[in-house]
Amino acid sequence: MDFPKDFMWGVATSSYQIEGAVHADGRGESIWDRFTHTPGAIKDGSTGDVACDHYHRYREDVALMQSLGVKAYRFSVAWPRILPQGTGEVNQAGLDFYSRLVDALLEAGITPFVTLYHWDLPQALEDRGGWNNRDTAEAFAAYADVMTRRLGDRARYWMTHNEPWCTAFLGYDMGIFAPGIKDLKVTLQVSHHLLLSHGLAVPAMRANLGDGAAVGIAPNFMPVYPATDAPEDRAAARRLDGLFNRWFADPLFGKGYPQDTWDLYGENVPDVQPGDIETLAAPVDFLGVNYYNPGTVADAPDAPPPHLRDVSDPDLERTADRIIYPEGLYDILVQLHRDYNPPALYITENGAAFHDEPGEDSRVHDAGRIAFLEAHFAQAARALKAGVPLKGYFVWTLMDNFEWAAGYTLRYGITWVDFETQRRIPKDSALWYRDFIRKHS
Ligand code: BGC
Ligand code: BGC
Ligand code: BGC
Repeated sequence: MDFPKDFMWGVATSSYQIEGAVHADGRGESIWDRFTHTPGAIKDGSTGDVACDHYHRYREDVALMQSLGVKAYRFSVAWPRILPQGTGEVNQAGLDFYSRLVDALLEAGITPFVTLYHWDLPQALEDRGGWNNRDTAEAFAAYADVMTRRLGDRARYWMTHNEPWCTAFLGYDMGIFAPGIKDLKVTLQVSHHLLLSHGLAVPAMRANLGDGAAVGIAPNFMPVYPATDAPEDRAAARRLDGLFNRWFADPLFGKGYPQDTWDLYGENVPDVQPGDIETLAAPVDFLGVNYYNPGTVADAPDAPPPHLRDVSDPDLERTADRIIYPEGLYDILVQLHRDYNPPALYITENGAAFHDEPGEDSRVHDAGRIAFLEAHFAQAARALKAGVPLKGYFVWTLMDNFEWAAGYTLRYGITWVDFETQRRIPKDSALWYRDFIRKHS
């Protein structure tokens, strides 16, 4: 496997999944606080109230990353720590936390990659309609301005959103993520406001960051395959590609909403105001790619619209929650490079959950995760060779954490966390990653 010496090998996390300390230092309530405290919302009835207690243990966690030799760390900022009411008064103590974190990273020789939104919307904004309210896009741009003003001298890589598909569809259509709404019309308006908020924020961020910084976004993408070569199945794959990938990527890269998908949505399409399409296509310096699994679909005329049947290969190996298909990473990178030609791409998330447990020797022998990472790294190397301007790779995730609706039942970390004692044990995969980075830099 060939990688450039300056390739950014990193790990990723997100605020609500690791920080805990939900009442510390003036943090406001987020929609995930509200959602996790709603009976029945989370598989094991758990919350992120404590999680990995990273808010109090960040120095230890930075030291852990340093011991693994990671070059970059992608984390997200909890908006309600900065603006407890979503807008208005800035909470200095919240800003100070991220400022200290950035300093600690830089001291450890680790490059910070900051994500502004990884799903923890201030509840005060949700009370005014959340992402369904156009004002939330303006509020996001103001928050992005505050963050880049304060941290932009030291943090030079920024992302607006993590996985707008998940924010919109899991939160407002399927209702399995906060705020737990099930309404397609609202979902599509939310998806438009998310993209709009990105487009409003990017110029403000750039103005604060000046030259030499990089601004991007980290959507989740899914390569889609037809069940057979039949034209009906190929059309079905094209539909899903539109619903999942192109609905977000086409407008971000100046193509407007894809007409076929727009037509599919019929009366549920969002209200798009004059100028929005231009605003949300603000040029980015890089495209982040979160990749976990592909989709394979057949045409299903008898099923409700969009007439799809998921036929993902039952013979493929699986992690604790998904099929394993490393070639999908190559395919989606090549597709995005071909269709949008972003100046640079980063894999901003890729990783796997397995049912890990420490053995008699108190070590965690997660051979499955090592095989998973190695196979995916090989596909990244293949994409580089094919001409994709891939600049870095962030493994999801540094440590076991609060896995959203699955609570603590899924362990995605390369570090084991004992949630009773907060003890961290680097799994075999973390040590393997450390050696891999050393060998390739
Ligand atoms: C996957 C989807 C999945 C979603 C929620 C995405 O990353 O690509 O297939 O439904 O996550 O788990
Ligand atoms: C192609 C896309 C297509 C998708 C669904 C991908 O392999 O690159 O252009 O939309 O499959 O058929
Ligand atoms: C999300 C992470 C999540 C991971 C594993 C991604 O969709 O960005 O927050 O933990 O998938 O499910």
